Amino acid sequence: MKAIILTEQGGVENLIVEEIAIPRPKANEIVVKVYAISINPVDIKTRKGGALYASMKEDRPVILGWDISGIVTAVGSEVQNIKEGDAVFGMVNFPGHGKAYAEYVAAPADHFALKPKNIAHAEAAATTLAALTAWQVLVHEAKVQEGQHLLMHAAAGGVGHYAVQIAKHLGLRVSGTASAANESFLKEIGVDQFIDYTAVDFTAIAKDIDVIFDPIGGETTARSLQVLKQGGTLVSIVGGVKDHLSPAIQEKNLTAKNYLVKSSGPDMEQLASLLEQGILKAHISYQFSFDEMVKAHQQIETGKTRGKVIINVIKD
Ligand SMILES: NC(=O)c1ccc[n+]([C@@H]2O[C@H](COP(=O)([O-])OP(=O)(O)OC[C@H]3O[C@@H](n4cnc5c(N)ncnc54)[C@H](OP(=O)(O)O)[C@@H]3O)[C@@H](O)[C@H]2O)c1
Repeated sequence: MKAIILTEQGGVENLIVEEIAIPRPKANEIVVKVYAISINPVDIKTRKGGALYASMKEDRPVILGWDISGIVTAVGSEVQNIKEGDAVFGMVNFPGHGKAYAEYVAAPADHFALKPKNIAHAEAAATTLAALTAWQVLVHEAKVQEGQHLLMHAAAGGVGHYAVQIAKHLGLRVSGTASAANESFLKEIGVDQFIDYTAVDFTAIAKDIDVIFDPIGGETTARSLQVLKQGGTLVSIVGGVKDHLSPAIQEKNLTAKNYLVKSSGPDMEQLASLLEQGILKAHISYQFSFDEMVKAHQQIETGKTRGKVIINVIKD
């Protein structure tokens, strides 16, 4: 099979297509013939030697990628709920060595959900790491409640556009930050209050916020604490909660934490149900072929992607 190997940490020139053996499933694993892969900022950070690279580099060949949708071609001896021929999607082995930039991927069966029949592989592959992050942060970490006010930074991005849709579905009021080019997109997906972070200071507009979802970090995290209600919650997915913020956090009795998404079949099933019902939609702004992985990385590196970037391995 073809796989894209990362020869060593560095630039996109280190992503090389090679022929390697199709993986075999361990007892708890399935093998998936990949139709679509989604690309995330963590792929780029890891390619450059950050994020998960240190934990993957000894396990050669290093193959990036965690998000796939495809058809099951082999099933391990202990797997019960998934069979050969099923269409599945999931974020595999995260945080770990996903090896998803390949025509076939072996991964634990309990990292997947069955793909709804009315959803194409590209949309399913898109609704994995970014959507799981949105779901796990809002539902498990912030434990959001109907009627609360959410401030979603980077609301037009991969994580942001899913978080907005999930929060609206759960009955929250949503303020979202993006540049002016994304105003109509954010209104379409349900943002109640659009904040152009390039033109105004969000702290002057967003008030009495119950929950802040932070994919930006640095000064944005620090200033976000000012607009949270007493007892409010901030979850950062970029390590924005640092020790020097403790006095501000304690003064308002806030809950502020950093979070890293984890593979989860049960959470994938929640996303599958929302997709099937049309409550959650993937916005895919760029689709590339397997041989165009470099272009996909370059697009994510702009930091301006609206929604998701997908690689079609097999067009369905
Ligand atoms: N810890 C975890 O588990 C976890 C999981 C997923 C992602 N992450 C991290 O979270 C970050 C976001 O991921 P993603 O997939 O959503 O990235 P992405 O899709 O590449 O995000 C791009 C979006 O960010 C917006 N943006 C850039 N700078 C902004 C700013 N200062 N204020 C508001 N919006 C801004 C852009 O909107 P404009 O074009 O309008 O500026 C664009 O739509 C990445 O660093 C990623 O590695 C962490």
